[in-house]
Amino acid sequence: MNKLIINTLALLLLFMYVVTNEATSITKKHYIVYMGDHSYPDSDSVISSNHDLLASVTGSTRQAKQAAIHHYSKSFRGFSAILTAEQAQQLGETESVISVFESKTHKLQTTHSWDFLGVDNVPQNNANIESKSDVIVGVIDSGVWPESESFNDNGLGPVPKRFKGECVAGDQFTVENCNRKIIGARYYFKGIEELDGPLESQNKTFFRSARDSDGHGTHVASTIAGSVVNNVSLFGMASGTARGGMPSARLAIYKACWFGFCSDADLLLAFDDAIHDGVDIISLSLGPDFPQPSFFTDVNSIGSFHALQKGILVSASAGNSFLPSTAINVAPWILTVAASSIDRDFFSNVYLGNSKILQGTSLNPLKMDKYYGIISATSAAANGVPPMNASFCTNNTLDHNLIKGKIVVCTIETVTDSRRKKATVVRDGGGVGMILIDPLLANVGFQFVIPATLIGQNEALVHQEYLTTEKNPTGKINPTTTVFKTSPAPTMAAFSSMGPNVITPDILKPDITAPGVNILAAWSPVATDGTGGRSTDYNIISGTSMSCPHISGVAAIIKSYHPSWSPSAIKSAIMTTATVMDSTLKPISRDPFGSPTTPFDFGSGHVNPVAALDPGLIYDYGADDILNFLCGTGATRADIQNLTGAPFKCNPIPSYDLNYPSIGVSSMKGSVSVLRTVTYVGNVPTVFKPFVESPSGVNVTVTPHKLKFKEAGEKMSFRVRFMPYQSSNGSFVFGSVTWSDGIYNVRSPIGLNVISV
Ligand SMILES: *[C@@H]1O[C@H](CO)[C@@H](O)[C@H](O)[C@H]1NC(C)=O
Ligand SMILES: *[C@@H]1O[C@H](CO)[C@@H](O)[C@H](O)[C@H]1NC(C)=O
Ligand SMILES: *[C@@H]1O[C@H](CO)[C@@H](O)[C@H](O)[C@H]1NC(C)=O
Ligand SMILES: *[C@@H]1O[C@H](CO)[C@@H](O)[C@H](O)[C@H]1NC(C)=O
Ligand SMILES: *[C@@H]1O[C@H](CO)[C@@H](O)[C@H](O)[C@H]1NC(C)=O
Ligand SMILES: *[C@@H]1O[C@H](CO)[C@@H](O)[C@H](O)[C@H]1NC(C)=O
Ligand SMILES: *[C@@H]1O[C@H](CO)[C@@H](O)[C@H](O)[C@H]1NC(C)=O
Repeated sequence: MNKLIINTLALLLLFMYVVTNEATSITKKHYIVYMGDHSYPDSDSVISSNHDLLASVTGSTRQAKQAAIHHYSKSFRGFSAILTAEQAQQLGETESVISVFESKTHKLQTTHSWDFLGVDNVPQNNANIESKSDVIVGVIDSGVWPESESFNDNGLGPVPKRFKGECVAGDQFTVENCNRKIIGARYYFKGIEELDGPLESQNKTFFRSARDSDGHGTHVASTIAGSVVNNVSLFGMASGTARGGMPSARLAIYKACWFGFCSDADLLLAFDDAIHDGVDIISLSLGPDFPQPSFFTDVNSIGSFHALQKGILVSASAGNSFLPSTAINVAPWILTVAASSIDRDFFSNVYLGNSKILQGTSLNPLKMDKYYGIISATSAAANGVPPMNASFCTNNTLDHNLIKGKIVVCTIETVTDSRRKKATVVRDGGGVGMILIDPLLANVGFQFVIPATLIGQNEALVHQEYLTTEKNPTGKINPTTTVFKTSPAPTMAAFSSMGPNVITPDILKPDITAPGVNILAAWSPVATDGTGGRSTDYNIISGTSMSCPHISGVAAIIKSYHPSWSPSAIKSAIMTTATVMDSTLKPISRDPFGSPTTPFDFGSGHVNPVAALDPGLIYDYGADDILNFLCGTGATRADIQNLTGAPFKCNPIPSYDLNYPSIGVSSMKGSVSVLRTVTYVGNVPTVFKPFVESPSGVNVTVTPHKLKFKEAGEKMSFRVRFMPYQSSNGSFVFGSVTWSDGIYNVRSPIGLNVISV
């Protein structure tokens, strides 16, 4: 297992290297020149002063205009341009410039291979919520398929007056494609073209507009705020009603991602517009590769910080990297979302000739008319190919004469293998079906061009025995049946990226988990790469890309109930009301082997939207608190300038004292006392008492031992004192503190790394 995972890591990096370095520019690169916080209503004068500044390094205004790509003028100031390293450095030394960094690419958090099952699962929907329809969610992603029924605007009132966005027309997208649901649509492509060449050169279907040819953005947007649509399914699977978390919320679409990738320069422009347009929430199902870059150089961190300053919550994916320390989007001002399962499975079982049944998972609408012979790929190696190499069913490794008319049994080489491609290779060689032994992702639904299904370790053993004892093994792969109320649920998805936070380990990450396995939502009918070549209006896919929009939807609901709440207050409500128990009332476990979890899997736990509407207490903090926190972690003046663009007088606090809804101390030498302040948001006078689960080897006391509140808005501070009596041997130990008044239970996980007692 360890070996498998290490291979995977190397391959993933290798893969990313190839993809993100397609740009062949030898001497010039695309740089973002960031000039800080000031926004100017008059973008023309900004553009002309940008050109003047650029001309000072390019030599002439004409060359400056040629070099410039994007101008940022609304929510912060700056521009992007094609420059030599020397020109970039010169600009960096100019007084008005805060930083100059190269525009790189981010990846959408569903690899195209993970396609799947499920239904939208944000439960708290009632008439009351429907009437509160002025929340606007900005979705930075691959665009939208506006004709989808999920974006009908039946029953919605006029577009909120405060919205300043636009419906930008483009290729097969007119202003008529916006309505009272999709209230804005913009698109950005100059950054990606600078890296990868003209969009046309990729030989893939696309629209030079906000229209989505990828499916991802449509899926995300409809998960957040899709209207209620009855009788939808993926070829009969998961049939039922599709709906977003908040069907009455409005969507503003910012298309910055093309063919699965988004450039820094385009993303920053999307942030600039979204913040200025007046969205309430930004949903970000994309991110950098791990390890997460420094907050002071990472576009998601910088854009999100400006959003926080303007009162906008950013909810973002934690990543799909399987392993500890791989969580991304870990800045304390981002709500970082992990992925977990729901109580629904998609079984595509294999009937064997000896009348045994293998339980398999797949999104397989295809019927097999009869039993076919089964052959292991290791027994079907092409001439000169070792059996081990053939077992992965990669191209040109299989003997077509041997697999013709057979079901082929394949295995996984690395977790990032394209499952879909294996089935295509089998089909191209004349095979009629595929059984894929895939212990890690055996509960994730994929779609294939032929009948195919994934089996786990136990099924693989049963199957192996049949293949070795039976001279002419046969089988039949059945179409998928959708099974509800499976248990336990939720479980953490095997792929969901884990903490600790590699940048500021005192902030536990991820923050929360939400459904991200086999989620059904609207789709782009021209996106057929991941759907076995079959066009569909609704699709089932998996990833933290799918869990993030669930949290964005919940945040939208809370915002509609509590319009004055800050981003941190909304985040606190979501985190402190989360649950760490599954449907069997046991602690949530992790796929695929049911292993135990910690806050590094799911942060505060699994989202509970109903409880989050009325959390009792909130942990609030603002932009200045974050800056003081950053000063406490050793951030320099220059670092802070990179983030805010404005000077700031540091008043450093210990980083465990940021008023975060969870508590972390990553380097504990002896006793530590942590400070927190809560704001009461209930209605009647009440008294809260603390209940502590002590981390192993640490005594914990809370003072004061009672918090008495008379009315909403009152604030009280308390200290949690940790007195370790045992080293935690280099890893974290976990516990929790819950404030309860008998009605509200306000829970914060604790994670401590005890270096010495
Ligand atoms: C500011 O950002 C630039 C560009 O990423 C980076 O090179 C520089 O090191 C950063 N400065 C600080 C002080 O973090
Ligand atoms: C793209 O398609 C054209 C025409 O079909 C072909 O000539 C060209 O080689 C293709 N380019 C790539 C990179 O596949
Ligand atoms: C649901 O959709 C299916 C296929 O699109 C159709 O055959 C069926 O009549 C629909 N059922 C209802 C109740 O509308
Ligand atoms: C078989 O796989 C190994 C390890 O990936 C590789 O080094 C070798 O070249 C492959 N052999 C053939 C014949 O493909
Ligand atoms: C397999 O390789 C052949 C060339 O050797 C190519 O034509 C074909 O498209 C490849 N198939 C897949 C599924 O990659
Ligand atoms: C922890 O608590 C135990 C039991 O109350 C006590 O005996 C011990 O001295 C305490 N240790 C520290 C370091 O406070
Ligand atoms: C650390 O290791 C020691 C020695 O193996 C063991 O006694 C102790 O329980 C460990 N501490 C924790 C917190 O696991």
